[in-house]
This record gives sequence, C-alpha cells and structure tokens, in this order.
Amino acid sequence: MERSKLLSLSGLILGIWYVSTTYETSATFEYPLHSFGVILLFCGLAILLTDKLIPVAKSELSRESYLSITQEDLDGSVDRAHLPTDGIQGNTGASEQQLPLRRLRGRMILVLLAVLLAVLGIRLELLRRIIENVQCSDFSPEPFLPLYVAVHNYWRIQKYASNDAGNKEDSSKATHDGVYTPLHHRRFSSVLITFLLGCSCVVSSAHASAPTSTYICAHSLPYSHMIPLFQLLGFLFDCVMLSILIRFLEHTSETGSRGFEKFFTLIGWFLLLASLIHIIIGVTVSMLASVDHMWISTFPTPYLFHLIKISLGISVTVVCALRSLQHVSLMTTSVIIIFVVAYCRDVVIAWRNSLPYPPAPDTAALLAILFMVLIFGMYFLADTVADPRHYPFSRPTFRAIPRWFILSLILLCLSRAGLWLLRHDEVRSHPIDILIHEGLEQHQTWSKQATASQSLGEAVMAYEKRYGRSPPPNFDHWYDFAKARSSIVIDDFDNIENDLLPFWALTPAVVRQRTWNVIANPAHFVGGILIRDGKAQISTNVVPTHRWMLEGVIRMIDQFSTWLPDMDLGFNLNDECRVAVPFEVIEPLKAEAQRQKTAIRDIKAKTFSPNRADVWSTLPTQAPHEKFFEDASGRKSFASWGSIGCAPKSRARTESWWNKKHICTECTKPHSLGQFVSNWTLAADICHQPDIADLHGFYISPASFKTTRHLLPVFSQSRVSTYNDIRYPSAWNYMDKVAYAPSDEYPDVPYENKTNTLFWRGVTSEGVSSGRGAWRGMARQRFVHEATNLTSPRTMLFSYTTSINRTFIYRQVEPSDVGNILSTDVRLTEIARCGQQDCFDQKREFGLGNKTDFQEHWNYRYLYDGDGAGFSGRFLPFLQSGSLPFKTALFREWYEGRLTAWVHFVPLDLRLHGLWSTLAYFSGVGDRLGNSQVSTEGKEKEGQLIANAGREWAAKVLRKEDMEIYFFRLLLEWGRLTDDRRDEIGYKL
Ligand SMILES: *[C@@H]1O[C@H](CO)[C@@H](O)[C@H](O)[C@H]1NC(C)=O
Ligand SMILES: *[C@@H]1O[C@H](CO)[C@@H](O)[C@H](O)[C@H]1NC(C)=O
Repeated sequence: MERSKLLSLSGLILGIWYVSTTYETSATFEYPLHSFGVILLFCGLAILLTDKLIPVAKSELSRESYLSITQEDLDGSVDRAHLPTDGIQGNTGASEQQLPLRRLRGRMILVLLAVLLAVLGIRLELLRRIIENVQCSDFSPEPFLPLYVAVHNYWRIQKYASNDAGNKEDSSKATHDGVYTPLHHRRFSSVLITFLLGCSCVVSSAHASAPTSTYICAHSLPYSHMIPLFQLLGFLFDCVMLSILIRFLEHTSETGSRGFEKFFTLIGWFLLLASLIHIIIGVTVSMLASVDHMWISTFPTPYLFHLIKISLGISVTVVCALRSLQHVSLMTTSVIIIFVVAYCRDVVIAWRNSLPYPPAPDTAALLAILFMVLIFGMYFLADTVADPRHYPFSRPTFRAIPRWFILSLILLCLSRAGLWLLRHDEVRSHPIDILIHEGLEQHQTWSKQATASQSLGEAVMAYEKRYGRSPPPNFDHWYDFAKARSSIVIDDFDNIENDLLPFWALTPAVVRQRTWNVIANPAHFVGGILIRDGKAQISTNVVPTHRWMLEGVIRMIDQFSTWLPDMDLGFNLNDECRVAVPFEVIEPLKAEAQRQKTAIRDIKAKTFSPNRADVWSTLPTQAPHEKFFEDASGRKSFASWGSIGCAPKSRARTESWWNKKHICTECTKPHSLGQFVSNWTLAADICHQPDIADLHGFYISPASFKTTRHLLPVFSQSRVSTYNDIRYPSAWNYMDKVAYAPSDEYPDVPYENKTNTLFWRGVTSEGVSSGRGAWRGMARQRFVHEATNLTSPRTMLFSYTTSINRTFIYRQVEPSDVGNILSTDVRLTEIARCGQQDCFDQKREFGLGNKTDFQEHWNYRYLYDGDGAGFSGRFLPFLQSGSLPFKTALFREWYEGRLTAWVHFVPLDLRLHGLWSTLAYFSGVGDRLGNSQVSTEGKEKEGQLIANAGREWAAKVLRKEDMEIYFFRLLLEWGRLTDDRRDEIGYKL
C-alpha cells in the first residue's frame, strides 16, 4: 500500500478511536453552539494547513497497483471528460471503459456550496437540540450512511446504463453489458453489504449501552417525540451533504491530483466560512439570552481544555478522511468510519461491564460484533475484486486482501470474545445481605472508638491521642455537661475537627476580621450571634424573616453559654452551603493548619484570654459596601463552584458527562456494590462523580446561592463534600419544625402492620427552574417521575432459582410491570420555585397530589427522604419512627458518621438506579412477575431490624441533648481558635 494511503487510513482510524472514546466525558457538548463554531474553525484551519504543508499525493491511481490500466488510460483520464449526455465515445473495448463523470461549472459550485452551508447549519442546530435533550433520543440511524452511498452509486450507474443504452441503441449493447453488468452486480452486493453492516451496528449499539438514567424525558412535552424525529431528519440532511460531496468528488476525480488540491482548499475555506457564521450566531445568541450571557473568557477552563482536545481530534479525523478519499472510495471511507465507531463503543462498554451490574445482553452484543466484523471483511473482499477504473464509485483499497488484514480482523474478534468470556452474570449472594453484614461490623467499630472514655481523665487522654493537642479550656465543664445528659459519644468529634481544620492556618485576628466581614452586611444572608458575658444575642442587623432560625440557635446555646468566651459567630441564613475554596488554596491551608495545631506547646492557662470582648470589632449601623459573596443563584454551579475543591486530576475536574440518557457507571463504581450504595461516605464525595452536575438542584440551579471562594467562617446546617462551611446542629430539628409525634388519629403501627408501600409527599423546592427545563434533572422530580411516570424499562435484581441452585440475576422489567410488582404512593403537592413554562410543564407531567398530614407517614413501611434546597429536615423524625427510611442525599449534616448506612437507614444513590431493586429486596415481589424462576421474597425481618436499629440508635446519639453537646464542643473549639493565645491555653488535668 502506498505510504500516503496507509497514513491517511491509519490516521482516520486513530482519530475516530480517540474521538469515539473521549466524547462521552468531554465538556465540549455543554455549550454545543459555541463548540461547533470552534470545531469547524479547527477543521477548516487543519485542512488548509495540511494542504500547504503536505502536498497531495500525485498519482491517485497508483500505477504499480493497477497493472491492468494502460498508460493511455492514465494520460487520458484528464482529457476524456464524459458528460452524461455525451455518452461513451472513443472507447472501443471494455477494458478501456470509464464511467461518464460530470464536471461542474463555476456557478453550479457556488450554488452547491450555498446549499451545503445551509444544510450544515440546520444539521448542527438539530444536533444541538438532540444533545440538549439527549435523554429522549432513540437509536441513531447514522450507521446506514454507507448504505445511502451504496444506493446512490447503484442508482447513478443504473441511470447511465439506461442513458447510454438509449443513445447508442443496440449496436454497442454488448459493450454496456460488458461494463455494467459486473459493476451492476457488485453495486448490488455493496448495497446488501452496507445494509447488513448498518443493521449489525444498530444492534450492537443497542446492546452496548450503559443503563438508562432517571433524567426526565417528559412524555407530556413535545420534545419527547421531536428528538427521534430530529435524529431522522439529521440523517436525511447528512445524506444531502453526502450527495453534494459526491458531486464534488466526481468533478475532482476528473481533474486528477490538482483537482484534489483544489477540492481540499475549497472544503477548508468552506468550513472557515461556516465557522465564522456559527461564531457570529453564537455571540448574538449569548448576547440575547440573558442567562447564557457569557463568552469564551468566562467559560470554565476544563471546558476550553476539552474543546481544544476534541477539536484537534476531530480535525485530524476530518483531514485524514478527506485525504483517504484520494485513495479509496467515499463508500469505503464511510464503511471504515461506521465500523470503527461501532467497534470502539462496543469494546469500551464490554471492557467496563465485566461485573454483573450493569447487566448486558452480552452474547447478543458479541454475535452482533462478530457479524459486523465478518461483514466488514466481506466488504473489502467485494471491494478488492471491483474494477479499479470505475472511480469514484469504486476504488479498491487492496489489490488482494493482505494477510495482515485478515489477521487483524481475527484479532478484533478474539479480543471481543475474550471480554465476553470475562463477564459473569450471576450474583452469588444478594449485595444488600453483604452490605448489612459489613455495616454492622462498621457500626460496632465506630461506636467502640466513639464511646470508649468513661472518665474525664480518659476523655482528655483520648482527645490528646486523637487530635494531637490538649482539649480546649472548659473541657471539664463540657464533659460534665455531656455526662449529665448521658451522652454515650465522648471521643469522636471528627466532624468538628475536619470542619475547623483549615481555619487554624489563619491567625485569630484574621478569623475575627472575616467574621466581622460576613456579618456586617445583612445582604450576605449571614446572621450574627454575639456572645458576651456568657449570654448569646442576635445581632441587630439580621433580617426579621430569618430571626426564628437564630432564635433556635440561641435556645441551644443558652444551655451552655456560661462556659463560652466572648465572640461573634456568623450563621448561614440560607439552606445552601456557601464557602467553596479551590483545592489549590485549601490544601496548602490544611497542611499549614495541621502543623499549627499539633505543634506541642506548654499549656500556660486553663482559661480563655480576658478582655475578649474588646478584640471583636463592633458591627456598623450602616451596611458596608464591600460584598464578600457572589450571587450565583439560578445558574449551573458544578464546574464553577462544586468541583473546584477537588484535586485537579480528579474526574470531576477533568471529565464531564453530557450524555444524560445514560448512567455514568464509572462514576458510581467507587462507592457501589452492583446497583447498591456500598460506601455512604464516599457516595457524598463528588470528586469522582462529574455526572452529579446534572442530577441535583443544588448544582443545576440553586434557589438562593450566595457564595465565595475565600475561606470565610460561616456556620451552616449542612454542606456538600467540597464545601468548607462549618456544620452545626440545625435549629429546624431542635425547634421541632417537623417532628415525630404519632397520636390516636395517626398512630405509629407496628412494622408488620404498616402498608407495604414506599411513601413520599413534597414540594419542588430543591432548586429553581425558571423556564429552561432545569427541573428535569433535580433529584426530587426525578424520583417522582420514576415512581409515577415511568416509561422505559428498569433493571432489577431478582433471586433466580434453577434446578441446581439459587443465585441472583439482574433483569430488565417493563415499566408497566414495575408499577404492578412494587407499590409506591408518591406525589408532589405543590410546584414551587419555578418560572414561566417550567411551572406548566411540571404540572402537566406530574399532576398534583393532595397534601397529607406529616403524621400520616407512620402508616407506611418505607419512607423516601431526599434533599431540599439543603439537607432534609424530615430525616430525623423518619429515623425516630418505626418505619424504614430510604435516604438519598448530597448534603451531610453534623451527625455524619454517627449513622451507618444499611444498619440505621437504607441508602440510595442519587441516580436512583437501585431504587426498585432495593424496594424489591424489602417488600418482595413474590411471583407477581408471572415467572416462578425470578420470584423474590420480601425481607420483612431485615427491614424491621434496620427500622428498629435506626430508631434505637437515634434515641441514643441524635437527641436534642446530643445537638447541644455537639454545639457546645464546637463553640469551645471555635473559642480557642479565635483566641490570640490559642497556642497557650487549653485544658490540663
Ligand atoms: C468509605 O470510603 C472512605 C473514603 O474513601 C474510606 O475512608 C472508608 O474506609 C470507606 N469505608 C468502607 C467501609 O469501605
Ligand atoms: C396488627 O395486625 C395484627 C394482625 O392483623 C392484629 O392482630 C393487631 O391488632 C394489629 N396491631 C395493631 C397495633 O394494629
């Protein structure tokens, strides 16, 4: 094979491999309109550049390859332009026959280019819409593009044949038969082959896909039907563009290598023009759309980085594809592209799916791929024997199929079959059984280390050992306080330690100054509480609507305020957490803090410094102008705030997940066992979960989000993993805003008498959806949609009984069956925090359920619990009840660690993909599926055990007394941290 041919073909294959394995996690498609402009620009520049740097290979019909072609053929190929109407002249023998090709006139070229430009524009707009609503997309018809080329060729040859027959009558009929009949057959066989190729690609891609996500494709809205239509239209437009390309190619092939040079230049400039138009439209749209008012400079860096990478990948692919048109036919090029894309996709998925979950119909996928490889080989066989002179309809890739080609096909089959062998489908024991068992051990370990100390002396020693320094002043009073309230947790306050750690890197004066900064301005929505002479009071500048919260906080502080030093505190009045310090800043701070706080020093005093009241600046009567928080409400917050606390190499910072139709199984793997959450702590760590960006209201469109990248001291009720808010026990629970209070009217019946149903009522308060469809990703809405509007099949784990043994197996269940075998009572009672179209859309999709009394919950066995705008205030009452809480949450509260998942409550992944299997485990499906082999008995006993364990443990470590104890210790630590002599004061026996 020629060098340039080899180069362009291998470049093509590598380019496709790169693009098709990275596009799924590329942030490029988050701003498709802008990305398309840049990609077109890169492609155009790359074509023009390579045109200048690497000259077009001179002989597109290589002499040594096609010995059957005479010198005359080659020389004459330029002159002998056969317009269709000319018929075939001057060709006497079949061996010299050339197919008549069409030359284009200048004006015609312009017209075609204009059409191409318009079609490309519409095509990209369709693609943009498909990407935006990818959760509604269906199978893609693109694998049939080679078929279109084949049909197109077939039709053209047919037409010429009949034209010629008409012109030349029967005198040269023998000649036509001589040329066209074999060609005819081959064209027919290539139609058949490309058809089969398309089919096998579609079948394989249907099997090679991750499980469907719960991102909402609302069937009451038009786009759910429009997207598949757009896909079809997109395919048709692709066909139109291909037809135009074929016209250009025919023209080009007439004029030899110089023609190709011109062709490339033309395409290059064309793409630059298209890019320019796109960028102009992009800028205009960003200017007009108020929310999307941003341009390249304001884009997150990962986006730009991804965009450049994928643009380079795509432009290499496009250049190589164009270059290979010089050596092989358009059909061959398209066959290669489609084949490589389908194969890469399949192998990547098969490589990831070696575990039983996600389930894959792997045998079917394997057969489809083997068949596809076979068809691919057959294509080249047919291509090889095709007559080389019938360009551009055919141009053989090989003169004879080389051995290495066959070997590589066999290798492709073998490696795929190897992956098939590695996969196993059956699960020996139910993951939840394993997780409950592990959870019990974990809980025992935790409570042992948390409750070890039995005396003040032991507590001090345990403190010193654990945290590497002396306890704060008044630790003895704290100890007495905790003992008087019969707290069993004495030693483990790691949450306080972790939350406060970075502040040790700041001097006490700086911490005090920053506290003043956040509470001096009421517009920050941080309420001040001042502690003076053992009394706590609310600062005068707090907005009245939020006073109740601070009053609750004061009530808690009043229990122990006599022991606190004078200080000011800033409490977050919003639900969302506030302080997102970038990884690059917070890590050095933490390292410095670690040195600061553990440097062993002599304790010189057992009390806080005197005159502490003087070191806190008084609050101004007029709010200062300076703003320390940025208002980022109603905007996507993951890339600009959520993930900045993650390590630069983490998945959250380097990848993105735009394909909302599918679950990112790589993102769930670290914290999952099959479909179930195996590590609740790790599940809250968003650094390996870039897909969360589109799955929670806090990241999609937070309702009131005033945030900062500086380490400011803000006390919040809960926070997400990468945030640096200081957690304190929420007044919401302390003040019993919602409480577990069964009555005669609403009794808490014994577990076995509760309705075997998953129950939830709530409001769409997770984030604000102001007209751009943000609600479709929010966890609350997704949950309601999953329970009430399910439209696609779901994967569930069943026990599977054969004559030999009993195992477990993941099976697809039709949406109607899910509702039949499992019982839920889930409704939204109000559509809140919405604007414009989104209010109507949600109402139409979900409908509204009746409000119920909170105490009605105890009738149901399974209570779903999810985040609102912040943490869920209902969880503690749920835990205190005799029902079994199913909890999904991004936020973590002060008691993180005290509860163990699968021991005290049932954890659910935010993606909700394990919801049905989890419910089936506890409630059972019996043989309601009509298949006795896959029946599953409900584990009533396990459910009851978890419900009881949660209730009992909550009565020990999550009482109001425990909130006071935690808060007391937190404020003692904070008191020391803000003390100028913090290295010298402490508690010593
Ligand atoms: C859960 O993940 C955390 C964080 O990576 C780790 O420290 C902990 O050991 C894990 N727990 C279990 C039970 O594997
Ligand atoms: C629970 O159900 C059992 C059997 O149906 C019944 O005998 C018992 O009275 C019920 N208990 C309550 C508290 O409703």
